[in-house]
Amino acid sequence: MILVSYSSYLSNKGMRPIIKDIQQHVDAEVVLKGWISSFRSSGSIAFLELRDGSGFMQCVVSKDAVSETIWNDVQGLTHESSVILTGTVSKHPKKENVFELQVSDIQVIHIAEEYPIGNKEHGPDFLLNNRHLWLRSKKQWAILRIRDAVETAVNTSLHAQGFIRTDSPIFTPNACEGTTTLFPVPYFDLGEAYLSQSGQLYIEAAIGSVGRCYDFGPVFRAEKSVTKRHLTEFWMMDAEGAFIEHEENMDVQEQLVKDIARYCLEHCKDAFAILERDTAPLEKMISLPFERLEYEDAIKKLNELGSDIKYGEDLGNDDEGLLTSDSPVPVFIHKWPKSIKPFYMKIDPTNPERVLNNDLIGIEGSGEIIGGSQREDSFDLLRERILHEGLSEEEYGWYLDLRKYGSVPHSGFGLGIERMVRWMSGAEHIRECILFPRLVNRVRP
Ligand code: 4AD
Repeated sequence: MILVSYSSYLSNKGMRPIIKDIQQHVDAEVVLKGWISSFRSSGSIAFLELRDGSGFMQCVVSKDAVSETIWNDVQGLTHESSVILTGTVSKHPKKENVFELQVSDIQVIHIAEEYPIGNKEHGPDFLLNNRHLWLRSKKQWAILRIRDAVETAVNTSLHAQGFIRTDSPIFTPNACEGTTTLFPVPYFDLGEAYLSQSGQLYIEAAIGSVGRCYDFGPVFRAEKSVTKRHLTEFWMMDAEGAFIEHEENMDVQEQLVKDIARYCLEHCKDAFAILERDTAPLEKMISLPFERLEYEDAIKKLNELGSDIKYGEDLGNDDEGLLTSDSPVPVFIHKWPKSIKPFYMKIDPTNPERVLNNDLIGIEGSGEIIGGSQREDSFDLLRERILHEGLSEEEYGWYLDLRKYGSVPHSGFGLGIERMVRWMSGAEHIRECILFPRLVNRVRP
């Protein structure tokens, strides 16, 4: 595999240096283009913090080293003004691996008006109303970088595990995850369509063609859950594989989660430093096997730990926290009662009251990250469950067809990208893990 780094790509193209790769340009004269993210001046020296999208860098302007015009321009700079700086890259006098720009020239592109987001504490509503600007702050920059790393790692890990990306439709005629959380959309003369809750059913069809595949895109839940872990529009990666059974399905998930964490540890050092994220738990987790706990045992353990949850109930946020609070590794809770799980999950041949599924609960209070299962591959059992749920056999006819023509054991799972980003970044709320969050009470900007 040939991987071309962005910096060598730029140098191959003869393009200008960027802050991320500035260590390659020590003692050289460079031109950097970006925005002023902070500014302080004391008599004859000014310190500008420049951000160019790839990173942040301190730029030093000495009154003695520049013309009077340039010095005056510097004094007129405001937070978020856009500039082109020319200067020489130097090593920070005291800090290892920190570099500065000794500015020799500055070209002001635009002087920003008084910027509404300052250093003082702002409330969440103010920040969300100004999300288009809030994105520029260091912490949000760091989370966006981590999101990109998570998405890149998902693609790399799944390809390494033999999956190809197929993607599935957003307009769907029927529910995947229960009819109560569907978003209806008027669809020309054909009545109502719904925004997809998960592409799973469609990629179950695609495995008949390509064996192992995944989709990656936005999904929608009309769910009135106001928590730190729920969005109404979020990004899901659904993976599906022919001839993968329950235990192997969890192996694939475990590999994926470890690959994502490993990739973030390797590529997001700056972002983690900005977020002051202690990465020790992630470093430890990637070398240990994940725990696998049957639902029934999880309920017993929770009762011992003081929870009043009963067999047959879904795990709440607190229960997930209790199960993982002293665990160095994520925990698979598997083989849940069929009564509380969707129609497509395969009945456990050793106990018809439960299904061959799993939730994966992350550590550090991250909660449920993945939901997956082996799928029902018997035409008769699947039809029975569709009818039992009051769903239309006709609407799901194409899905049932998959069990008519060479049905095979198969499994898959869905990973919530923002849940993963929240865990990796340590962000307090999921609303910071997506560019423009869609919440029960927010659809703007
Ligand atoms: O457990 P869920 O509902 O599973 C499915 O949709 C399956 N069809 C996936 C599959 O087997 N291909 O959702 C999967 C994951 C959850 O574990 C969680 O990480 C995330 O999607 N998720 C949400 N993330 C943000 N906001 C919400 N409202 C979410 N609902 C689920």
